[in-house]
Amino acid sequence: MKFFIDTADLTEIRDLAATGMVDGVTTNPTLVAKAGRDFIEALKEICALVPGPVSAEVTALDTAGMLREAEKLRAVAKNIAIKVPMTWDGLKACRTLANDGVMVNVTLCFSANQALLAAKAGAAFVSPFVGRLDDISQEGMELIADIRDIFDNYPALETEILVASVRHPAHVLEAARIGADVCTIPPNVLRQLIRHPLTDAGIAAFLADWEKSGQKI
Ligand code: G3P
Repeated sequence: MKFFIDTADLTEIRDLAATGMVDGVTTNPTLVAKAGRDFIEALKEICALVPGPVSAEVTALDTAGMLREAEKLRAVAKNIAIKVPMTWDGLKACRTLANDGVMVNVTLCFSANQALLAAKAGAAFVSPFVGRLDDISQEGMELIADIRDIFDNYPALETEILVASVRHPAHVLEAARIGADVCTIPPNVLRQLIRHPLTDAGIAAFLADWEKSGQKI
């Protein structure tokens, strides 16, 4: 499963890219506003830091406007993926961009039918938002399982399931169990993945015993 990092914060991206665990980046208008940087300048830096797909979301709501914005975003770097919303205008823009060889990430997906539409529109990625479904007492990961089952019926389908709106390590684990292609992970959650108290205790015990041996490597 590919790990994308879900942030527009350059410091976080730089720090976590150094671990070798970052296969791509997803941004959205909220994350860009939070980062407080010029969008295009930030994208240039992110694309230079991470060679994998970097999702940049359009803000227009009409197909023509989306395509105009997509042209500006595509010009930033080869690894830009254009993020469009799950609307008819978004799907039309997706189809046009996909026909032109552009990676498209269809976002704000909350149902299996929506994911099927994104796949039919030629999306490279579809982003089901699991955390926001959990927030309204629905089972976000069940949607991922449904989409996985449906997509696996059609081997020729190339759209990747990009699990988004991840809130904790259990979302990452379950996404991998189901066989999602990508999980876009907030920096704090990515850092939590490695934590286990027995690992910490084991390292401390090894070093204490090594200290007693009086040896050095
Ligand atoms: O990339 C989509 C993701 O950022 C949305 O997450 O936490 O706003 O539901 P969240």
